[in-house]
Amino acid sequence: MFVDDVLFIAFPYAAVVLAIVVSLYRYFTDRFSYSTFSSQFLEGRALFWGSVPWHYGILMILLAHVVAFLWPGGWANLIASPTRLLVLEMIGLSLALAALLGLSLLTLRRLRSARILAVTSPMDWVLLAALLTQVALGFWVALFFRWGSDWYLFTAVPWLTSLVTFSPETTFVTSLPWLVKLHMLGGFVIIAIFPFTRLVHIVTVPITYLWRPYQVVIWYRRSPRA
Ligand code: HEM
Repeated sequence: MFVDDVLFIAFPYAAVVLAIVVSLYRYFTDRFSYSTFSSQFLEGRALFWGSVPWHYGILMILLAHVVAFLWPGGWANLIASPTRLLVLEMIGLSLALAALLGLSLLTLRRLRSARILAVTSPMDWVLLAALLTQVALGFWVALFFRWGSDWYLFTAVPWLTSLVTFSPETTFVTSLPWLVKLHMLGGFVIIAIFPFTRLVHIVTVPITYLWRPYQVVIWYRRSPRA
């Protein structure tokens, strides 16, 4: 169907191309804007209690999305035992709840402090709304369409594989409930807006610390005696 092709083929490809092209453009024209624009110096306590559960929760959940996609055989073995499946789903729900509460706290923090509100751009609100919706939808899907860690392997994985191998096939996902489809498409909405937001800080994780020569940082100010 035309609408399905637009939503589940054209849109994901457009989102990924947009993300790559605009990220590169932004990197080469405005490299210093690749930042979280930290507001820690304006407020630290709520930031800590929001940021820690948000980041640990969402990173683990996204890791599970990626591992199940890249290694479906291993994932299928992992969830083959009902006990392991149950434990995994409980951990997933707890992490999703932690991420949702953390992100809600981070949003409230921006609304409640005049100083942080002043440094919050319209695009920050778009990003927060998109992330809150996506995580809430994911939580809803996991709660009410049970055993997603199993049916993900027979719906999302073959659909994503068909996209990656440039032989797109929508039938794996088109008959799923709309809330599930909204969650799947929501992932690509976030990919599309990625380069326009402070989410670009993800690619600035300082992993080069692992192999670059260490630096000694010293004060440059001369002492009066010297
Ligand atoms: C930025 C992108 C995404 C975010 C932030 C996100 C977030 C989440 C969250 C928080 C959950 C709940 C996890 C749990 O309670 O176990 C979830 C579940 C789920 N997500 Fe996503 N997701 C994203 C993209 C996607 C995409 C692209 C797909 C499929 C193509 C997908 C498919 C699913 C499925 C099937 C579940 C249910 C898993 C279960 O029941 O355990 N997600 N997602």
